[in-house]
Amino acid sequence: MKFQCLVFILVVLFALVATNQAISTSGSRPININDPHVIEIANFAVTEYNKKNNEAKLKFEKVINGISTTINDETSYRLTLAANNGSSSNNYAVNVLEKPSKNYTLTFFALIQA
Ligand SMILES: *[C@@H]1O[C@H](CO)[C@@H](O)[C@H](O)[C@H]1NC(C)=O
Ligand SMILES: *[C@@H]1O[C@H](CO)[C@@H](O)[C@H](O)[C@H]1NC(C)=O
Repeated sequence: MKFQCLVFILVVLFALVATNQAISTSGSRPININDPHVIEIANFAVTEYNKKNNEAKLKFEKVINGISTTINDETSYRLTLAANNGSSSNNYAVNVLEKPSKNYTLTFFALIQA
């Protein structure tokens, strides 16, 4: 009982810290990795990267985490995603800018060294 109580307090504290961090990076919020819109953006990043690098044939697997920041009516998505390069699954850091016209722009794409 005592132990459960301590765990509960720790969970609450952790949640408070996490919430404060999200608020302090003004306008930024964590994304939901299962949100179809977020998955669409991650897919776009991989497709666009493949288009720009003829030798790259990455296959999108899943979104790992990320945040979105909205400034005026542009939203910037900073995501970590997993993709398979044909021989192994790697993590990539990507940045996609979304404009009101539903026009996405890939602004950053890099392999995260394991
Ligand atoms: C795939 O990624 C692994 C690990 O980063 C790397 O060793 C390998 O060369 C890559 N293969 C291709 C085809 O890019
Ligand atoms: C997105 O917008 C840019 C700049 O306005 C434009 O050059 C590009 O063709 C647009 N892309 C699509 C897919 O609409």
